Amino acid sequence: MKKRIYVFTGKGGVGKTSIAAAHAVKSAKEGYRTMLVSTDMAHNLGDLFEIKLGKEPYRVMEKLDLYEIDPEYVMQNDFQDMVTGLGRLLPQGEQMDLAEHGMFPGMDELFALLKINELYLDDDYDRIIVDCAPTGETLSLLKFPELLSWYMEKLFPIGKTAVRILSPLAKQFYKIELPDRAAMNDIEKLYRKLYDLQELLKNRETTSIRLVTLPEKMVVEETKRNYMYMNLYNFNVDGLYINRILPQELNNPFFDEWLEIQDRYKKQLYESFAALPVYEIPWYDEEVRGSKAVDRICQDALTKEDIFEAKEITGRECFEQNTEGYLLLLNLPFAEKSEIDLYQSESEIVIKIGNFKRNISLPNVLRTFLVSSVKLENGVLFIQFSKQEEQK
Ligand SMILES: Nc1ncnc2c1ncn2[C@@H]1O[C@H](COP(=O)(O)OP(=O)(O)OP(=O)(O)O)[C@@H](O)[C@H]1O
Ligand SMILES: [Mg+2]
Repeated sequence: MKKRIYVFTGKGGVGKTSIAAAHAVKSAKEGYRTMLVSTDMAHNLGDLFEIKLGKEPYRVMEKLDLYEIDPEYVMQNDFQDMVTGLGRLLPQGEQMDLAEHGMFPGMDELFALLKINELYLDDDYDRIIVDCAPTGETLSLLKFPELLSWYMEKLFPIGKTAVRILSPLAKQFYKIELPDRAAMNDIEKLYRKLYDLQELLKNRETTSIRLVTLPEKMVVEETKRNYMYMNLYNFNVDGLYINRILPQELNNPFFDEWLEIQDRYKKQLYESFAALPVYEIPWYDEEVRGSKAVDRICQDALTKEDIFEAKEITGRECFEQNTEGYLLLLNLPFAEKSEIDLYQSESEIVIKIGNFKRNISLPNVLRTFLVSSVKLENGVLFIQFSKQEEQK
């Protein structure tokens, strides 16, 4: 069987940890070697299962390990040489312990993700279930490998010969010292790992992104944005969980309005996310704590047999040849045309929405083509490239 990764994301407090845990328990009971791993710095897997966790994975039941990643520990133990390599990029005199201080925001989380890549490659688990920090952080986390490898390509043309040739030039332009050969090796290693990580997370056969939401206006809005950004970065979302659904028979007028609100937003979610499998979780009369509570979610909400199946809901972006030249298709569900900014350079096209930006490299054949038209239709962005001469 193919090994799989499931990433649970959503706004703060919507139930990511509880629902991820329920999947993990269900998976282990099905006989799959499962790991439930948290990249949220405010870990709470231990709280949920009512045990104290250390820095290494912990076997909580047959076939299920819990693991709260401590990035500093992981950087020191698993990626020592890469961290040292990065450290050597800092100007003399400013070098410090990167594992402790971090070189750029998000570095901790990045190493947590790289650790997940290693766990995947190690073959000890059939399913890795990732419990994430709230949306904003998760988004930055997921776009990070791509962003960082983009910078690395620009700053240090990867490959040692390129570095040797470009060194004096680079010094002049970037006013930085290029790293020495040893550091370069480490950087190259990191670059490859980042590349592999991206491929792993974007591969429809390996990774599922699952969204957790509530039937309330603000959370629904945020879930749609999140879905759009996931698509902008080419991740495949293949499941939506509506948590905290009130029981219909409450016989308390206080809840009448709430029932109506929930009903309205539930309908909206089903309509907006018609392409996705949707799962509903009841609102319980107590917190989700301890294995009984987790089992309860499994029994109430995770009953569909194919819940772990990978589904390709949206394809990756692609180029298609047509009579005018080439067409780039990119899924952007719920995006508004007015908020999309787009610009082209010789080697890439940049798509900007809100605070997020995606650089898509253009294939060599498109170097002499320019964007001639753009349209957004049914949640798909169509970017037409035409041969430059035709522009005149
Ligand atoms: N269906 C539910 N019924 C009752 N309580 C719930 C339900 N789902 C979650 N909770 C409770 O709500 C709180 C938040 O849930 P959880 O920790 O799973 O959310 P989260 O999205 O992981 O939060 P964070 O963003 O802080 O990591 C917890 O106290 C949990 O026990
Ligand atoms: Mg959580």
